[in-house]
Amino acid sequence: MKNRLARIFSQKSSKTVMLAVDHGYFQGPTTGLRNPRETITPLLPYSDCLFVTRGILRNCIAPTTNTPIFLRVSGGPSVLGELSNEDITTSMKDALKLNASGVGVSIFVGEKNEDRTISNLGRVVNEAEDFGMPVLAITAVGKEIERDARYLGLACRIAAEIGAHIVKTYYCAEDFEKVVEGCPVPIVIAGGKKIPERDALQMAYNAISKGASGVDMGRNIFQSENPVAMIQAVRAVAHDNYTPDEAFELFNRLKDKKVVSSVIE
Ligand code: R5P
Repeated sequence: MKNRLARIFSQKSSKTVMLAVDHGYFQGPTTGLRNPRETITPLLPYSDCLFVTRGILRNCIAPTTNTPIFLRVSGGPSVLGELSNEDITTSMKDALKLNASGVGVSIFVGEKNEDRTISNLGRVVNEAEDFGMPVLAITAVGKEIERDARYLGLACRIAAEIGAHIVKTYYCAEDFEKVVEGCPVPIVIAGGKKIPERDALQMAYNAISKGASGVDMGRNIFQSENPVAMIQAVRAVAHDNYTPDEAFELFNRLKDKKVVSSVIE
């Protein structure tokens, strides 16, 4: 378990930049991920970990990659259905066969199938413990729910209590540090909908300044006008203490190809 986690979190900064590319599991060919192989391949060298489904892993990621894989193992409903109606879709056996460094399960606190999704998490943790497999819980948030510190704190704490080793949640501007304080395991933030690059870098910076252990970011990287430049800018914030302004300047320089490489550890 510790060895798998050590592959994800940098020994130097203790942070992680996970690349989330699992969106197709409920929303199909998402903008920026219509051709997963094309999008993901150039980003792999800059990702501390890839968060992905087994279908995309098997078909679109070279088996020779050294990038650790966290496998999404929950799913079921599509974007057209009741999103909280999730079950476990990928077995621990398959995760082990695919040499995953961890698995991810969504929980839907406050949603129709809250109890089942929390039980899903418990079941996966029970199996994962036998194999030293870290479990990432994703606190999925429905459209009706406000993403404030009270709600996110509740969802993150429940995920940790059930046994998640890492929790992925959203950033909230007010009292995010309280969300972190109430959760005894590392928190990484999802990026959410695409926002301007400078704003996304600010969000990553704020979250990490308030105690997040990194990001598990998708759309704000792969929908960027220059995903490879953007992931390097996010890395600069997470691993090299860049301010949002410095990181945005780096993004612009990389985007304009004025520098060839930058801050990869
Ligand atoms: C949810 O669909 C997935 O778990 C994503 O991995 C998560 O939302 C992170 O992606 P994004 O940064 O695009 O929100």
